[in-house]
Amino acid sequence: MGAEAKARDLLSRRKSGHSLEQAFYADADLYQLDLERIFYRDWLYAMPACSLPKPGSYVTHRVGAYGLMLVRGQDRVIRAFHNTCRHRGSILCKGASGHVPKLVCPYHQWTYELDGRLLWARDMGPDFDASKHGLKEIHCRELAGLVYICLAAQAPDFEAFAGQAAPYLAPHDLTNAKIAHQSTIIEEGNWKLVWENNRECYHCGGNHPALCRTFPDDPAITGIEGGATPPHLMAHFDRCETAGLPSRFHLAESGQYRLARMPLKVGAKSYTMSGDIAVRRWLGRVPFDDAGSLLKFHYPTTWNHFLPDHSITFRVTPVGPQQTEVQTTWLVNKDAVEGVDYDLKGLTEVWEATNDEDRRVVEDNQQGINSPAYEPGPYSGLQEAGVSQFVDWYCDTLASRLDPIRVAAE
Ligand code: FES
Ligand SMILES: [Fe+2]
Repeated sequence: MGAEAKARDLLSRRKSGHSLEQAFYADADLYQLDLERIFYRDWLYAMPACSLPKPGSYVTHRVGAYGLMLVRGQDRVIRAFHNTCRHRGSILCKGASGHVPKLVCPYHQWTYELDGRLLWARDMGPDFDASKHGLKEIHCRELAGLVYICLAAQAPDFEAFAGQAAPYLAPHDLTNAKIAHQSTIIEEGNWKLVWENNRECYHCGGNHPALCRTFPDDPAITGIEGGATPPHLMAHFDRCETAGLPSRFHLAESGQYRLARMPLKVGAKSYTMSGDIAVRRWLGRVPFDDAGSLLKFHYPTTWNHFLPDHSITFRVTPVGPQQTEVQTTWLVNKDAVEGVDYDLKGLTEVWEATNDEDRRVVEDNQQGINSPAYEPGPYSGLQEAGVSQFVDWYCDTLASRLDPIRVAAE
């Protein structure tokens, strides 16, 4: 059975409110279908814009079969290109990141401007048209200091999301951020297991001792809004919004993204072991230290925490059917000085530990699912509404992108 037929068959007999069948987490054909129908079509979070501090800064990235590079031009605009030379296809940028005056192919030194135009190609003869051999560009958008890319020829709409998210992000001033720390880990689990785990805190009490010091074990905060907003949450939203911080829960109609500024535990201000602020010189203009965390997710590649003093972005990239890269970036005010304004261990230890604990539970989840004895199990209505919401988004999105069944003419 081809991947499409397999997906159609599995989706048609899916038990809602239950985890998916094994094949969705393990099968190589369905993984390829996820890449082609979701990751090659949707807007994907790539990195914070401050990863490229000056013209000529570049960062490479890989999404499935596509090697990519993001480059800041002389005009300071960030562009994304396929990392393949227009001569005979060599990779152009080999390192993870760097700084170059021009993009020079290591093979025969074809030389490209930072905006992708081909500037120089030796001995190609009088009829050679350099203007037809510029780098292939990828859709790229900067949203309040966060860079998104889209591999599709025709990108889906970005404006609705950008318009909704920009006011929430503006007080965090990410364009004046710098990277304090970045970690890249590989989790031996399907990308959907990484997301399912992220979308609930049912597992937090049993697995995240450091995070639980500050992150509330309250399904109204950790899940997805189902009914009426409880009064304690409404009071928090009102207080933040009166102070100029967009905070109310917003879930996209499509289910693809959510924004909400959620309180931390009473007395907690940031994700530190003590609950105190981690960075003395704050990133952004949040007017008080107990505003909690602006939680933002955008399927299929990113969830984020924006705090009064610093921000953390997470990027999810599938690497294989049972392998996912999670890159975490801690952003601080560009003028904050390590050792003076913040201690790197104090800033990062809670989420370093949490990521490692999440990696372990995701890997255990994958191993158990790989057993022939696995069958889809029920989600907790109280604790795992967020997981249900993610899985519904995934199934609806995939179903809507399967080719229509062709009925043979009689
Ligand atoms: S392959 Fe790039 S210059 Fe030849
Ligand atoms: Fe977790």
